[in-house]
Amino acid sequence: MAGTSILGIESSCDETAAAVVRSGEKLESNVVFSQIAAHQPYGGVVPELASREHLKAIVPVVRRALADAGQTYQSVDALAVTQGPGLAGALLVGISYAKALAFALDKPLIAVNHLEGHIHAVLLEERQKNHREIGFPVLALVVSGGHTHLYLASQHRAAGWSYRNIGHTRDDAAGEAFDKVAKLLGLGYPGGPIVDRLSAHGDPTAVKFPAAQLKHRDRNDRGDSGPAPRFDFSYSGIKTSVLRYVEVHGLQASSEARRKALAGMEKPRLEEYLLHLDRKTLNLVASFQRAIVEDLVAKTLAAARACDVATIFVTGGVAANNELRRRFEEMAARDGLPVYFPSRPLSTDNAAMIAAAAYPKFLAGEFAAWDFSAEAGMRL
Ligand code: KG4
Ligand code: ZN
Repeated sequence: MAGTSILGIESSCDETAAAVVRSGEKLESNVVFSQIAAHQPYGGVVPELASREHLKAIVPVVRRALADAGQTYQSVDALAVTQGPGLAGALLVGISYAKALAFALDKPLIAVNHLEGHIHAVLLEERQKNHREIGFPVLALVVSGGHTHLYLASQHRAAGWSYRNIGHTRDDAAGEAFDKVAKLLGLGYPGGPIVDRLSAHGDPTAVKFPAAQLKHRDRNDRGDSGPAPRFDFSYSGIKTSVLRYVEVHGLQASSEARRKALAGMEKPRLEEYLLHLDRKTLNLVASFQRAIVEDLVAKTLAAARACDVATIFVTGGVAANNELRRRFEEMAARDGLPVYFPSRPLSTDNAAMIAAAAYPKFLAGEFAAWDFSAEAGMRL
């Protein structure tokens, strides 16, 4: 088969994933085993449980990814694995497995930063659509359960990418805020997808969240920190406001009752959620989502103007959000800026993005040393 087929492995959080991507532009297979069911009873990801679930899933997930692609262990050209950031124990399962496999097969192994992976999910799909005229510089918003980061991304040679961070969250990531608010309202885990669906049934203008709650406070705000402007985010204040609203309006008991009712259901349908929701809570959910979406879009576009970028990428789990996509498309169009998202399956964690990000490194001969290890707090 022409091209370079890379087997990607991702195990940084609660998804065990493997995929085969040819030359960074053709998805040959994409397998994601979600651990949501294992973590759901705890209302969030339990690190020790995540590692054990990865151990159980990694071999069948990789086998399936190879079979779906019509490949074998021997036929792929290289392996790629997420080095970080993520949960150390979870990362180590993917890394140890990938190392053993690469050693046994005598294939090169490439270590990939998970955040760089999210950015390459967009590139992979645009190339797959045969869209190769992306304007640089690119401003990439990586918005997930662990990150709300803005990067200026440039491509130097065919094989070289560089990233400059110009903004990040000072506290909670946007996805974390979705998850915490959903938990608070008894909506289960993960919160983003259900808040997304329920928001269409509430009034997003019903509850006003003061802009000050989305502002971070530190010295950089005074503009005395040097020439580079920063575009930081903060989502712990709005989460506290939702909590305050729940207390002031006496919604705790109904939230607890909702949590218990939904916990007994395998996979509640939208109607079942709606059956357990009152108007006030639905309006709160929709208003919360509106506030986060408006803030993400406004800050990203402010950064895009200040840095004079040509293109915007929005990627990571929260990029699956319907209102976020709509609002970005509408507002970026006003500035004449094209905005690209991955398809929904490639917005949330997957291994195709890891295999895609590995391809330029493969071309550059940037292979991992045998003693490399997980880097839980890895930066991009
Ligand atoms: O990228 P991802 O799969 O994992 C991390 O690297 O964190 O992102 C997961 C996050 C979770 O916080 C989840 O609630 C959020 O993405 N998410 C969403 C949606 N789908 C997933 N947030 C808002 N709307 C969605 N449709
Ligand atoms: Zn992610």
